[in-house]
Amino acid sequence: MSFDCINHEYYMRLSDRVLALIRRVFHNNPEFRHDSLKHVARFAPLIPLMGARPDLSKTLRRVVTFADGSNSLYFGCPIMLAAGANKTALRICDFANMGFGGISVGTATRHVREGNTHRPRIGFLEKDRAIHNSMGLNNDGVEAVTRRVLSQLASAHMNQMCVAVSIAETPGITDENEKLKDIVESFSIAYKAADYIEINVSCPNTGENRVDLDTSFLEKIFTEITNYRNSQGIRKAIYAKLSPDMSERHLSNIMDMLVQKGVNGVVIGNTYPTSKVSELPVHVTYNQLTPLRADGNRGGMSGRPLYENMVKNVKFIREHYPQMSVIACGGIDHGFKIYDLIRLGVDAVQCYSVVAFRWMAAHAMRHELEEALLNGGYKSLAEYDEHHPKH
Ligand SMILES: Cc1cc2nc3c(=O)[nH]c(=O)nc-3n(C[C@H](O)[C@H](O)[C@H](O)COP(=O)(O)O)c2cc1C
Repeated sequence: MSFDCINHEYYMRLSDRVLALIRRVFHNNPEFRHDSLKHVARFAPLIPLMGARPDLSKTLRRVVTFADGSNSLYFGCPIMLAAGANKTALRICDFANMGFGGISVGTATRHVREGNTHRPRIGFLEKDRAIHNSMGLNNDGVEAVTRRVLSQLASAHMNQMCVAVSIAETPGITDENEKLKDIVESFSIAYKAADYIEINVSCPNTGENRVDLDTSFLEKIFTEITNYRNSQGIRKAIYAKLSPDMSERHLSNIMDMLVQKGVNGVVIGNTYPTSKVSELPVHVTYNQLTPLRADGNRGGMSGRPLYENMVKNVKFIREHYPQMSVIACGGIDHGFKIYDLIRLGVDAVQCYSVVAFRWMAAHAMRHELEEALLNGGYKSLAEYDEHHPKH
């Protein structure tokens, strides 16, 4: 684990330049630009010369197994679309067109939520290739999301996509028992459909304190949901999505608890609170960011500047909690980075912001990952895994 993880730079293809031009044309309409992703995913196969179809080749297939007997996860390639990009769970397979081998839909809460009513709720930082957002957990409710996942799961699997459902507690509930009941209900509903369940305990955009700041409540959540899982005939993997800005001590406290509760893994991590944006390698200060909420809050930061910090967290977790599965997320925009992360022992990666900055980003990263594997002497990810068994 003693090699450097470089924040690799990618070559700007003509299609990436066209994408940059589109972003410039619509620079006054960040909401529209963000919303257009689902249309691109849907119509990508019809755009000539873009080759935007599901890639069903075997080269990057990966199976993630769990020592506790939880259902294995099957990825066409270990590049997932992170939570927030498809909050509705509609048209999941469109994202296979874009090259993804998995998706985390949601985040869904127990009931429908409008989210943040302020506009814009999202801002783009061109120079930093970053996005800051405060969507406020807008979603159609976990029942609708789960129903949609159930009806598409077979076709998603045929397209070699692993489907996670991301859930969070409903903001605004003050009574602790009610809060617990709310999240356990969401969990039990999502459990029916998801390949694995992702508990988002790190959303900075609800106007409330993040759940991962309250370790004792966090413990109650994971006690209840793992008890629920133990009562079920089928055992599915549970991942906790954590915030990237925690101190090692705080992260250790949470990781100790997650290991003790039998949680399978972590997604590290969510957006970086913009109040601490000076900790990131960006060209802006907090006050230069566009306010995204009525109270002036600037939301959470995503994209390329998160990478080095994310790698630091991944290294820490892999070193101290090797039994935990890790899905890396934050600033991943190059297949060489994914190869480095795989060498650090991550099972999969998730990305979001890169789709705004690279045309058909997952396809491009697949090619780069294949190239990196070949350079390392491996014809496929399966061959790499044979040489580096986990358990
Ligand atoms: C517009 C937007 C909405 C997001 N919504 C969610 C969400 O609902 N749930 C969640 O867990 N993460 C959400 N995220 C965070 C991403 O899933 C991801 O953790 C973060 O953007 C870092 O990855 P990236 O650097 O590849 O973008 C959102 C991010 C963005 C940019």
